[in-house]
Formats: sequence, C-alpha cells, structure tokens
Amino acid sequence: MSIRVRTKNQEPRGVRGVRKYWYFLKMMQVSPWYFLIQIVSSLCVAGFDGLSLGLLAPLLKGIIEKDFSFLGNITGVPWLMRVTGIHIQDVPSRFLFLGLVGVIFVSALLKNVVFYLSQVYMVKQREGSAFYLKNFVFQRYLTFGKLYLDKISQGYIQSDLLFADRVVRLLDALGKLLIAGFTLVVYFSIMVFVEWRLALFAVVVLPALHFSLRWLIKKIRRTAQLQSRVALKMGRQVFDILSGITVVHAYNKEEPMFRRFRQINDDIKRHNISQDKKLRMIQPFQEVLTMIAILFFVSAVAFIFVTGRAGQVSEYFLFLILVRRCAPVLIQLNRVKSDVAQLDGPMNRLLKVAEEKDKHVVSSGEEEFSGINSHIEIRNLNFQYRQHLPVVRGVSFTIPKGQMTAIVGPTGSGKTTLINLIMRFYECPPGTIFLDGKDIREYSIESLRRSISLVSQEVTLFNDTLKNNVLFGSRRDQRPGNEEVLSVFKKARLDEFVAKLPQGIHTEIGDRGVRLSGGEKQRVSIARALLRQPDIMILDEATSSLDTTTERLVQEAIEEAVKGRTAIVIAHRLSTVKNADKIVVIEEGRKIEEGHLSELIERRGAFYHYWQAQRFE
Ligand SMILES: Nc1ncnc2c1ncn2[C@@H]1O[C@H](COP(=O)(O)OP(=O)(O)OP(=O)(O)O)[C@@H](O)[C@H]1O
Ligand SMILES: [Mg+2]
Repeated sequence: MSIRVRTKNQEPRGVRGVRKYWYFLKMMQVSPWYFLIQIVSSLCVAGFDGLSLGLLAPLLKGIIEKDFSFLGNITGVPWLMRVTGIHIQDVPSRFLFLGLVGVIFVSALLKNVVFYLSQVYMVKQREGSAFYLKNFVFQRYLTFGKLYLDKISQGYIQSDLLFADRVVRLLDALGKLLIAGFTLVVYFSIMVFVEWRLALFAVVVLPALHFSLRWLIKKIRRTAQLQSRVALKMGRQVFDILSGITVVHAYNKEEPMFRRFRQINDDIKRHNISQDKKLRMIQPFQEVLTMIAILFFVSAVAFIFVTGRAGQVSEYFLFLILVRRCAPVLIQLNRVKSDVAQLDGPMNRLLKVAEEKDKHVVSSGEEEFSGINSHIEIRNLNFQYRQHLPVVRGVSFTIPKGQMTAIVGPTGSGKTTLINLIMRFYECPPGTIFLDGKDIREYSIESLRRSISLVSQEVTLFNDTLKNNVLFGSRRDQRPGNEEVLSVFKKARLDEFVAKLPQGIHTEIGDRGVRLSGGEKQRVSIARALLRQPDIMILDEATSSLDTTTERLVQEAIEEAVKGRTAIVIAHRLSTVKNADKIVVIEEGRKIEEGHLSELIERRGAFYHYWQAQRFE
C-alpha cells in the first residue's frame, strides 16, 4: 500500500496567528458539527447559569418583602401569563416562592448536565483528533526522503508523537473559551438589566483585569518553546544511547552517558518548574486584582447610595455575586490563553513536520513497473548527498536482463550509493537511470520496489520470530505457505541452523536480530529477499568477515539468490565475482573498468590488482 499524505494545499509555511489554530483544527479533522454542538451547549450552559443566578435577586426581594406579586412586572412574565393563562397576582406567595426555587434548581441542574455531556463529546473528539494527528505524523515520517531522515535523529518521532497528543488540548481550550465567553456575555447582560451604571463600571474594570496578565502569558509561551526543544533533545539522546548500547558497554561509557542524560533531564526539570511557577502565579494574581475590583465596586455602590438613589438591596447583592463570579471566569479565560500559549512549542514543531521544505521526498511516477524486459541503463549519473561533495561522477553502464552484474571498488567509492539510487531511496537527476529505455522516475516507486529484492550491506532485522522476519518481504495478498517458507530457509542455507533450535522458525531473534550471529543474519536477510521471488535481485554483500564454513554457506545462499535473475551484486568476495557475467569497477565515484572477469584480468588494470590481493571491498 502506498502512503498518501494530504500535503498539497496544506502548505503551512507562514501559518501564523489565528490561522495556525485554524490549520490545526483542519488537520485534526474536527467536524463542523463539533463546533456547532460546542457553541449551542456553551450557550445553554451560560444561559442556565445566568438564569439560576439572575433569579436570586427576585427570590431575595420576595423573601425580604414577603410578597412575590412583583414577579408579574419582570420583563417577559406578562407575556408568559398571557400565553399560559395564569395570573401571578392570584397565585399564593408560597407557591411562587417554591416555583422560583424550583426554576433555580432545575436550571442549575440542567447547566451541569449539559456541561457534562458537552465535555464527554469533547473528550471523544479530542481523542479522535489525537488519533488522526499521530497517524499524520507517523505517515509523514514514512514518506520523508532518506536524505532528510539521514539528517535528523530518529528519536524525534517519539517526541513528535507526544507533541501530537498535547496539541489536541487545543480542543479543551476552545470549549473552555466558548463557555467562558458566553458566560461573561450573560453575566454582563444581567448587570445591564439590573443597573446599567454599575455595568459601565464592570466594562472598565473587568477587561483591565483580563489584560493585566499579558506579560505573563508571553513568558509562558516562550518557556513552552524551550520545553519542546529539550523534549526533542531527550528523545534524540535516549534513542542514540540505547541504539549504541554495545559500544557504550564496550567502552565503559555508562557513566558519561548517564551524565549526559541527567543534564537534559535536569534542563527539563528546570523548565517545568519555571513554567509551573508562572502558571500558578495566574490565580493568586487574579484573586488580588478581583478583590481590588470588588472593593472599588462596593465604593461605587456606596457612592450611589450617598448621592441619593435608594437602590434595591437584592439587586446590589446580585451584582456583588456577579462580579465575584466573573473572577473565576476571567481566570478561566486567562488559563485558556496560557494553555494555548503552552501549545505553541509543540504546534510549531508539528508545523515543521507538516511542511514540505527540505524533506527531500522522492516523487513517484505513474507508470507501473512489471519487470525488466531488456536491460537497466545508468547514463552519465552524477550524485551528491551534500553540496559540493560529489559521490558518483559521470557513471555509465548497463545491466542486462537475466545476468549477474558485479560492482567492485574500494570502500567509500560509491557502490552502495548506486544501489540507493536504483532503489529510489534518494532522488536521482532526470535522464540518468533507465529501465528498458524509460526513465526510472516515470515508474511508480511502489511497483518498482515490488519487483526488486534488496539484501543490504547492513542487515536490518526486526524483534520478531525468524519466520516473521523472512515473511516480512512477502506481500499480504500472497502469503506463502509453510512449505514455501521452509524451502526458502533451505535455499538460504538456514535449514540446518533452524533444525537445531528448539523452537525452529518460531524462535524470537531479539532487537535487530541480536540473538543471531553475523553469518546467520546475512542468510536470514537473503531468505527474506528470496521469498518474494523478485524480478531483480540486488545484493550488497556485507563486509564482515566470516569463518570459512559460514562463508561457504553465505556464498551458496547468494548463488541461490541470483540464479536465473537480473542481479546486481556489490561484491566483496572472490567467489562472488567469479560467478558474475559482468564486472563494473568503481573508484572515487567513477567507473574505471568494465567487462568479464577474463577480460579484466587480461587488461591488468585496477581490477587485476584487486584480484591479486583478493580484495574487492
Ligand atoms: N547518507 C549519506 N550522507 C552523506 N554522505 C554519505 C551518505 N552515505 C554515504 N555517504 C558518503 O558517500 C560516499 C560513498 O559511500 P558508499 O556507501 O556509496 O560507499 P561504498 O562504495 O558502498 O563503500 P563500502 O564498500 O565501504 O560499503 C562515502 O564517502 C560516504 O561518506
Ligand atoms: Mg557500501
């Protein structure tokens, strides 16, 4: 299955400010329904909350005056009376009291029920989004060009997946923002309704409270970026140390490695403490400011009293409650801001993962490749991994169908690089590699790799059973049977080794095959390549030297692998070269000789010298 990631029309470069959040909401596949439901439920929560609070004033007034008939004058109630046919003046006060208490209770209850349901819905969406986002990150990594992957640490992906989990908290923040925003609007409307002059006071004081924490939010954002940077560093270091654990042990480097880890761990601790200190400053800061606001408010009430307007005690009481209740809502708003500020680092990091720049993705062609008909041609091929450091220079040769072509040359001469280009791990320049006369770039990478089996120089095995490691290469729709698997084990000269294992082909081989010897690993990777019955076999012989018995077994396995196939073999052994139909000699990225073994020996050139030294690198 080829992996297609939605990268087009998703160019995130320059995605800043509000657009950045919008971009992420789209990437997390948040449905428009989600927004609608969140808005409606937030409106309901704020509305029910306002209703239960707002009715406190008439309740208090009624209790003080021992009369609830004034309810009939409240806005909207006359209309309600007309519709229902009930006249409040005729209803006994105790029923009105009970009715009022009932409405307050029911609206408080409904507020919390709606709130809970909307939270559950939000959590479902958030976890769904985390799922999409992590898939997105992983798929991106799978499509990155090898040139890019060579540059970065594989530990990054773990941090990026953790970041994806964090970024979805954007949805929590959005929900809180909606509820806090609507609640403030409702509270404010009640204030205006009760006493507009005091509401005016709120207009001035409350935003001042809200903006007083701007500097703190800025600092939180900055620390969040530092936090994500050290998290990436930690991922990279842990990966590096654990993947090289043998060398760490062999050179007694446990102590310095641990020190290195502890340093980063310490950085993380420092940043976390510093961030938490800032986050925890928000609440006390706001509480003090709110207290100041309340004192101001009481003074304002006193002023209105003194200047003559005899107000309703119940209204002032309600007002006080509202101002007091505004404080946590404002704190909530600021917390949303700080939460979002904390997501800044992870979001910027994921934007980097999403963008195309420098990712060196090898583009796939449209043409299906179904096998070679005549030959593979390399035509004046030049290639460099890093600028100004050419590795392959003007190489041309052909690889005929059904024959074995050996490539030999000193170490670092660019042999593996040639294979990397044929395998399309790196992008080759146009018009340099042809399959049956057609540029390799026109073929779909998936179909091309389906026809080729690669046994690479560094054997890559997975922490699984022998059988599953060999089955790894076979296609899901062509699951080979047990017999076929056993015959491949036989061809790869693994049958005797497997027979000695108590669990046979079901033996677990450990991380990267640590429980196997070098020669066994090589043969397992040959078996894996053989099982696919590929059209083209590419073998990059491992350079590790083996004892003569194992060497012979590996050699036989190689012979089985290339038999009757178009094969390209990077040869390090005399016995391999002997079997080749054609030998290409590479030195410092240039082809210096080409021909059959006997021709090359006769010519007495570079190959002849290797031959004499029996050294092919
Ligand atoms: N991923 C990479 N990034 C940068 N340079 C690279 C990369 N891979 C290889 N090189 C460089 O390219 C040159 C050719 O490397 P290559 O692996 O093709 O050599 P080789 O002929 O296969 O050697 P050997 O016989 O030791 O396997 C080397 O100088 C190497 O340092
Ligand atoms: Mg090599």
